[in-house]
Amino acid sequence: MRYRVRNLRLAPRGRAAVEWAREHMPVLAEIRREFSRSRPLRGLRVGAALHVEAKTAVLALTLKEGGAEVSLAGCNPLSTKDEVAAALVKEGVSVYAWRGESQRDYYANLRRVIADRPDLVIDDGGDLVSELHSRGGMGVKGGCEETTTGVNRLRAMEARGELRFPVIAVNDSPTKRLFDNRFGTAESTLQALMSLTNTQIGGKRVVVVGYGHVGRGIASRARGLGAVVTVVETDPVRALEAAMDGFLVRSLEEACEDGEIFITATGSFHVIREEHLREMRDGAILCNAGHFNVEIDLEALRRLSERRREVLEDVEEFRLKGGKRLYLLAGGRLVNLAGRRSLGHPMEIMDLSFSLQALSLQYLAGNADRLKPGVHEVPPEIDRRVAELKLKLSGIRLERQTEEQREYLRSWRMGT
Ligand code: NAD
Ligand code: ADE
Repeated sequence: MRYRVRNLRLAPRGRAAVEWAREHMPVLAEIRREFSRSRPLRGLRVGAALHVEAKTAVLALTLKEGGAEVSLAGCNPLSTKDEVAAALVKEGVSVYAWRGESQRDYYANLRRVIADRPDLVIDDGGDLVSELHSRGGMGVKGGCEETTTGVNRLRAMEARGELRFPVIAVNDSPTKRLFDNRFGTAESTLQALMSLTNTQIGGKRVVVVGYGHVGRGIASRARGLGAVVTVVETDPVRALEAAMDGFLVRSLEEACEDGEIFITATGSFHVIREEHLREMRDGAILCNAGHFNVEIDLEALRRLSERRREVLEDVEEFRLKGGKRLYLLAGGRLVNLAGRRSLGHPMEIMDLSFSLQALSLQYLAGNADRLKPGVHEVPPEIDRRVAELKLKLSGIRLERQTEEQREYLRSWRMGT
């Protein structure tokens, strides 16, 4: 078995964290029990690029339990928890990741996963699939994608006829978008913002850029903590939705006049640019919840600054010419995972997302040969199964439709 991690001696601490996560991921535990009986991934090699932290470890071990050989790289140079990487190696997973790896090492680690010749892949953000395609696909039968940015990239590949194998857009399933993107990112982003800066949210003027699944969650939870929230959107329907949800909706230029905390969640590029940075107030805090560190124009921030220093771990002060100070969290990378003390989504949320991943991979193991290259939906029965399992394990009972109701809903004759 091959691996590259920071320090194997960290394994005991990592194992404890993984056990804690496993205790709080009961849906995946059910799937693991079933996997260990039926071994649906027997003989398959799974290559993954994911945030290497405790919940991801529970997924990797579930896949192993299902019979797969697993190779794992990070999907962000800052989100790996070194103790978890070490613990996974001790459990027989080939991990190639460490926190703070350089850009060069990040890609070298993706290539190490590819060199293990995966049959199936799981990606978060599209870097593994993109790297695979620069090598002709390498015989991969199919894959799953975890996040919006990754699915956007896959759709771009599909539109150009360049996607060589079927990929299930796990991100786009209702269970994933509703609970992970919306509630999970909201809680973990605000948790990271608070723990990295020790700042109060209540009473602050918070600007959320992007009112998609992620932005909606962050805006509503920030309001729940007492923030005065402004939303910035480019899409008229979503802007209207934000306005009707009771948020102030303004252009970013307007919001810069008095915003105190800026959170980007668009999946787009250079959303906060030089002209905005120039307008911001002294002391404004900037952070990003989108997948890549491109939403804030970091080059412009550096250009405008005459001095930089780290005031707290993962909190960097930029002193602009003229004396104004702006504070950037976690280097502009996704703040809920990239900060040293950021923990990612709550365990209960990743229980659902990674259950979808495990079942989608099982589906691919049986069906990839029949699927065309392209982006595919999560089969609705998988979404339903994950939601039903979660309800059952939470002791929540569903109301049942009566036969009369079913008949009424199928018919059209009965009116006023
Ligand atoms: P989405 O497509 O549902 O929403 C993005 C929103 O941003 C859209 O409403 C779009 O109109 C808006 N937007 C685009 N450009 C804009 C601009 N210049 N100014 C203002 N608004 C703009 O996507 P999503 O599911 O909300 O995901 C957003 C990002 O968050 C993606 O990069 C995704 O991969 C990432 N994500 C991160 C986490 C995390 O753990 N941090 C979790 C899930 C998703
Ligand atoms: N932990 C592991 N993967 C994650 C993800 N994609 N988002 C948030 N937390 C995570």
